[in-house]
Parts: sequence; structure tokens; C-alpha cells
Amino acid sequence: MQDTRPVEHVARAPWWRDAVVYQVYLRSFADGNGDGVGDFAGLRARLPYLAELGVDAVWVTPHYVSGGADGGYDVIDYTAVDPEYGTVEDVRGLIEDAHALGLRVLLDIVPNHTSDQHPWFQAALADPDSPEAARYHFRPASEEPPNNWQSMFGGPAWSRTPDGRWYLHLFTPQQPDLNWDDASVVADFDRTLRFWFDLGVDGFRVDVAYGLFKDPSYRDNPGIYSPTLFGHGPEQAMTTNQPQVHEIWRRWRALCDSYDEPKMLVGEVSLADLDEVGRYARPDELHHAFQFRLLKSDWDASSFADTIAEALTAFETVGAPAPWVLGNHDKARQVTRYGSERRARAAALLMLALPGSAYLYAGEELGLPEADVPDAARRDPIFFRSHGRRPGRDGCRIPMPWEATDPNAGFSTATPWLPQPADWPAYAVDQQESDLTATLTLYRQAIMLRKLHPALGSGLAAVTLDGNVIRVDLVARTGDPGPITCWINMGAAPVTVPAGHVLLASAPDQPGPSGGRLTLSGDTAVWATSL
Ligand code: GLC
Ligand code: CA
Repeated sequence: MQDTRPVEHVARAPWWRDAVVYQVYLRSFADGNGDGVGDFAGLRARLPYLAELGVDAVWVTPHYVSGGADGGYDVIDYTAVDPEYGTVEDVRGLIEDAHALGLRVLLDIVPNHTSDQHPWFQAALADPDSPEAARYHFRPASEEPPNNWQSMFGGPAWSRTPDGRWYLHLFTPQQPDLNWDDASVVADFDRTLRFWFDLGVDGFRVDVAYGLFKDPSYRDNPGIYSPTLFGHGPEQAMTTNQPQVHEIWRRWRALCDSYDEPKMLVGEVSLADLDEVGRYARPDELHHAFQFRLLKSDWDASSFADTIAEALTAFETVGAPAPWVLGNHDKARQVTRYGSERRARAAALLMLALPGSAYLYAGEELGLPEADVPDAARRDPIFFRSHGRRPGRDGCRIPMPWEATDPNAGFSTATPWLPQPADWPAYAVDQQESDLTATLTLYRQAIMLRKLHPALGSGLAAVTLDGNVIRVDLVARTGDPGPITCWINMGAAPVTVPAGHVLLASAPDQPGPSGGRLTLSGDTAVWATSL
């Protein structure tokens, strides 16, 4: 069938529609000043590595002055840089260098809650009648908490002030939730967005974008959140996904669009219902809405296939690209979750073929496993609030290995803030760079091919499941370099599939096709020309 849309239309498609975005965990990426903590100087010095990897943008986890209760997601000053990470001038320098290399820079904004040390919350504690008190959720003193709302990190979502009032925190008690019905909250975030946009930042990842508003009458939630769910569902009906939140995203989108070079937003939308997630990415709302079902899927072909097909439909319905993510700073690393680096490599090839944008988490391109962190070194509040029942997220936040023989694998001249496992140097960038079979090489090749071939990453996809095998047929939207099929065999036994020639295989020992047939090894994915 002839595609009648002019080629220029697609050529001018906004950059973010099929971007590969690389998430940098700032504290753990690279240390520029030798204090054991990653920072902007370190990141700036490593930008050429990201350019060579071929990604389009970097998203930096929170860099603000913070109380340090939740890895920077407890902000004290939204327009200042934590001195541990550098200065506003360092951010400006980072943006300049990144732009010169063709990379865009996204920061992370945290609108659902502030730090308890934020001047507003301090003023609210000091005086219940202050205007600042109206910017949070306070309830009068009472024996029992105002309702059954639970913190996502364990325990009740309400804590008491010294004068006996209750205040709401969906995360730690050091992260009081803002009241978005208060006009000064809305206005202040506009100011923050403009501050960073005017500095040259290209966009934001929006923390807890499905939050912000709460049930105005503080009714009980119908259920209790379980961390094993795909995301929040009806059990969190009073604390997440309130209809008013979409007005904020329309407001922020208009602000983004007011710049000559429009800014972009990607929201964290941890909802189980993918159609609900899609609504956050309507044309006048967020550019991308993360869905986490794939991230939370076990190594299981039918769960992968269902999620991919459902997500494609949900985002297509609103005309938005689907953002794909297999790992982030909140989730155990793929290698460990799936059970092997071989499987993680296969999953990466599948993700990078799918139409939409792909989000990589620093270190996944090195095949890093989840690290064992001794209890004494743990930092994540999830570990402490669950009394050790949940290990928390430190194991995926270990400082990066760069040079195998340098102290601390090249991350820092000082002892890193979280300990690196003894085998970390084996994963170092300099060990993988010249190794054709390395995971870093696979990522580089995949990202390069994705750029070259219009069927990859931005084509039209049809997903078919057959036993343990998922087949994704990809056709370019712009007519013809020929269709490509991504095959992934999620079972252990080899299977035979039809294939022309193989563009890329996730396993180095994958045999080539012969006579139009390919024997696909277990736990392997390939990109092949379709037959
Ligand atoms: C998001 C972040 C997570 C943080 C939480 C509270 O889920 O990804 O790291 O702990 O929000 O801000
Ligand atoms: Ca440092």
C-alpha cells in the first residue's frame, strides 16, 4: 500500500518522538572533584561517551538542593543546584557542551512534594494560619490518622507535626505532599520551569506525574497499595490519577510550546491501566507518558507481547509515541531480574526495535547486574521504612565503572558513596569498548542501526506471539527500505523462523540463516530482513 504522506512531514517530526534517552543517576555517573559523589563536572567530562553511544538526550536525576532523604527527590530549592553537584553555571556549561555534541538535556522536576526543609513547609509548621500552610495537606489534630492512605514506601501516609496536626506524605515523612489547588503552588512551578528553560534546558522528566491532586474530601482509599502491582489501580483511587491533574499538564505543555524551540516533558505515570496512561500523552499534554508494565514484566513471552501490543494501541489512540523502558533507578537491574546478561541483551534489542522512544538507564549498556549492598551501606528509605523487608533501590544505583585499572574503576579518586562490588572493573567501559562481543558494542550497534533504518524505532509494528517467541514486524512509515522483523526467543530451546539476512543478533554465538531459515537460539533476539 502506498503511503501518501509527504516524506518531509516525517523528516520534520519532532526529535522526541523516536528519541533514545539516557538516564543519568547523577550521584553515580562520574565524579569530577574527587569526593566520591558524582556531579555535573564529571558528567560533562563523560558527554563524549554518550555521543558515541548514539543517544539523543540525557535525563539527569534531581540536582537540586535537597534534604537527602530520598536520593534528591526531596527538594528544598527548585532553582538552585546542590553544592555537592556543582552550580547553575555548571548546568549551563553542561547544556552548551551537550548541544555542541548533538545531545539534548532533560532535568527531573518533582512537583508532587517538597522537602520538609523547604522554606514553605517550615513556615507552615511555624504557623498553621500562614499562606504556606495552605500549600500542603494538613488535617486537624486527632488520635488516629485522618484516613487509610498509605505511603508508597511503607507505613501510613500521615505524620504529625510538633503541635499535633497531621500532614500528608505519599512517600517519606520528609516529603510532604503539595496542595495543587493552591494557586501559588501552580505559579511557583511555572517560575521554576521558566528558570531552567531559559537557561537552555530542553525539557523535564516529571516525577509522580499521576499524583499532585488528591481526593478533596480525603475519603479512604478502597484498597492498599501493593508494590508488586504493575502500577497503581483503583486501590489508590483517592491519591492518584485525579482528573484535575490533566489541567496542569495542559498548562505546562503550553509553556513548553511557547519557546521557539519547544521544550519537552516526560511524565512518570505509574498506573496499571494503559489507556489511563495514554490520556497523559494527549496532544496538548505530556509529550511522553512512561508506562511501567514492560519494566515490571517477568521474563515471559506472553506478558511481554501483551504489554507491547496494549501499549502500542493505547498510545496510538491518542497519537503519541510509546515510551519504552526496561530499567531505571527504582528497579532491580535487568540482568538480575531476567536471570542473565544474555536475556537482558535480547530484551534490549526488542526494545530498541519498537516504535516510539527508548529510555536507557546508565549502566544497562554495560550489562551491569544488580549489586549486593551491605546493610550498613544502604541509603534507600524504602529499606529503612520497610524494616529491611524490602531491599530498596541502592543495588541499581552503584557508581559506574569506567576504567578497569583505575581506583574505584575510574568513577572517583575517593571512595564512592555506595560501594562498588569487587567484580565491577570487569564491566568497565574501557574493557568493553574494543570487544566486539561486549554488551556496550551491542547497544552502540543497535542505536546506530535504529538511526539508519526507518523501520526501526519509528515504523509501524505488528506483534505476534507463538509459544515463547515474539515476532515484531516493522515497516517504515516513509516507504521503502524493506520491512524488518525483530524476533525474540524467550524460551531455552532453539526455534526455527523465516529470515532474510540478519542485521544484528543479541548473542554472539547466534548462527546465521541459511535458505531463508534461521535457527534462533534460546534467550536471543535478532533483527532480520523479513521474508
Ligand atoms: C518517583 C521516583 C523515585 C522517588 C519517588 C518520590 O517514583 O522515580 O525515585 O523515590 O518518585 O519522589
Ligand atoms: Ca563530586
